[in-house]
Amino acid sequence: MPGLLQNHIAVVTGAGSGIGEAIAIGYAREGAAVVALDMNGATAESTASTIKGQGGKAHAFTLDVTDRAACMAMAREIASKVGAVSILVNNAGINRRNPVTGDADVFFKDWQDIMAVNLNGVLNVTQAFLPALRAGKGRIVNIGSIQSFVHVRTPNSVAYTTSKHGVLGFTKALAAELGKDGVRVNAVGPGLIETPLNAQVRAAKPELVQVFLDHTPLGRAGKPEDIVGPAIFLASDLPSYVTGSIVMADGGYRTI
Ligand SMILES: NC(=O)c1ccc[n+]([C@@H]2O[C@H](COP(=O)([O-])OP(=O)(O)OC[C@H]3O[C@@H](n4cnc5c(N)ncnc54)[C@H](O)[C@@H]3O)[C@@H](O)[C@H]2O)c1
Repeated sequence: MPGLLQNHIAVVTGAGSGIGEAIAIGYAREGAAVVALDMNGATAESTASTIKGQGGKAHAFTLDVTDRAACMAMAREIASKVGAVSILVNNAGINRRNPVTGDADVFFKDWQDIMAVNLNGVLNVTQAFLPALRAGKGRIVNIGSIQSFVHVRTPNSVAYTTSKHGVLGFTKALAAELGKDGVRVNAVGPGLIETPLNAQVRAAKPELVQVFLDHTPLGRAGKPEDIVGPAIFLASDLPSYVTGSIVMADGGYRTI
């Protein structure tokens, strides 16, 4: 049976770890040729070799999404070496956990770093691949969060919550602007997913994980693989009339 993403070329940012790695592997399983991008080139390579080891098609490149010129150059390189990109997953993201009520300079540095990756990075990569996506009626999948809607009580930066609200706003506004080109723009909103992003806080403060679990009807933390199905769905032909939406993959966190 052909995969849901057959004949697509899919770019995934932050594909060297966690959710991005799982999405890259899942997309390849569905038949896409995957371009794994990460600022840590070795991890992007490792994701690509996992895919190739499973018989899939993959390429890996080093890209820091905060470097706008590098994003533009990367899109040109991928167009010539791989082909026309038809799926973009804006997944690369960071978090910092210093409070806004703490040292003002520390918080401001966090704010700048978070916005540079979680918002400017999303814009840089989207603009870089926009001509290809518009030409090919492509799909964009942005990675939002529970924090696209609410803040959470575990230590989490105000800047992170602000950035993820921004990702949802960007998703809606871009969907509105690109609808006429047949480009669908949607987001996935993960709940607490066990990845290196939060490994330190999970290990140091299990009681904080419990705060999450008490608020999660499915009663467990998520794994990167829990995000793969929604990400495949949104990139596939199945949701042909869905744009500007977010699919929450949060174990039901936002229902209570
Ligand atoms: N883990 C969670 O609980 C959770 C929940 C909601 C949303 N998210 C979001 O999911 C996405 C992936 O997070 P994760 O948990 O897999 O994190 P992760 O830390 O495991 O992976 C993030 C990857 O992004 C890469 N990256 C970071 N900055 C980059 C940059 N400037 N340019 C290119 N690559 C860069 C890292 O090298 C890493 O490989 C993020 O956008 C995150 O905000 C995660």
